[in-house]
Amino acid sequence: MDLSGKVAIVTGGASGIGKAVAEALHQRGANIAVADLDAKAAQDVGKACGGFGEAVDVANEAALTRFINKVERTLGAVDIYISNAGLGVTDGPGWGAGDAPNAAWDVCWQVNVMGSVFAARHLARKIAARQGHFVITASAAGLLAQIGDAPYSATKAAAVSFAECLAITHGDEGLNVHCLCPEGVNTPLVQGVEGGAQGLGGYIEASEVAETLLKAMEEKRFLVMTHANTPGYVAHKGQDRDRWVGGMRKLRRMLVEKLGRPM
Ligand SMILES: NC(=O)c1ccc[n+]([C@@H]2O[C@H](COP(=O)([O-])OP(=O)(O)OC[C@H]3O[C@@H](n4cnc5c(N)ncnc54)[C@H](O)[C@@H]3O)[C@@H](O)[C@H]2O)c1
Repeated sequence: MDLSGKVAIVTGGASGIGKAVAEALHQRGANIAVADLDAKAAQDVGKACGGFGEAVDVANEAALTRFINKVERTLGAVDIYISNAGLGVTDGPGWGAGDAPNAAWDVCWQVNVMGSVFAARHLARKIAARQGHFVITASAAGLLAQIGDAPYSATKAAAVSFAECLAITHGDEGLNVHCLCPEGVNTPLVQGVEGGAQGLGGYIEASEVAETLLKAMEEKRFLVMTHANTPGYVAHKGQDRDRWVGGMRKLRRMLVEKLGRPM
């Protein structure tokens, strides 16, 4: 895919999957603006990828809008938006599905869902007019539920749903929407919870995720899965939800037996 002269914004681009996607887009010719809470790392990645980076909290609509305006002024109209900033919290230490504090639920909702909504509000129609791409990094947890982190699973399911809404609403205008749903990826996000269900399909490197995403963008595919078993699990869930819940309960019991906790 030749992206010469294209302008891309990558949120959460200072680390992990976002950084790898920024580098892969830049290798194909795009200039990248990175928005991340980590100012220094965002600057470093942005500069190395033909653009710039800044400290931006994607959950702050005013700050995100200022950043988008600055990108348009300095690099030009945006062709590609990668809404990738995200975070998770566990249900620990109690491990009940409703145990995480309200503040943890709020931050997951604001970052994992509203970060994409704010960007779409300001850019979806503009990017559609350029036949560009809008990527939402959700997670396999959004398709299948993760065990031991209800706020992450529920907000990533909402992220998948919002990606669907975006594609349905703006697809006819020319917007190419991609919903990236990896299982385990070797990034700082999973440090400390490596034994959880997300690692059962094995951990892959962020660079591999980036290459899979770029291929899907080239082929204009909506749902981007990175692990071999994910499509089968999704099909199984779609066919028989009760049997799937039973299987997940069994898996949770196995994890608790092995780890002393569900993740
Ligand atoms: N690592 C995995 O196994 C995995 C699997 C599926 C999905 N994901 C998703 O991939 C995305 C990237 O995660 P990663 O694994 O590369 O983790 P990471 O921790 O390496 O990167 C996440 C980046 O997002 C930034 N960020 C967090 N909150 C932000 C905010 N409010 N505003 C701006 N930036 C913010 C962080 O500073 C960090 O640089 C996330 O949405 C995550 O949920 C990760």
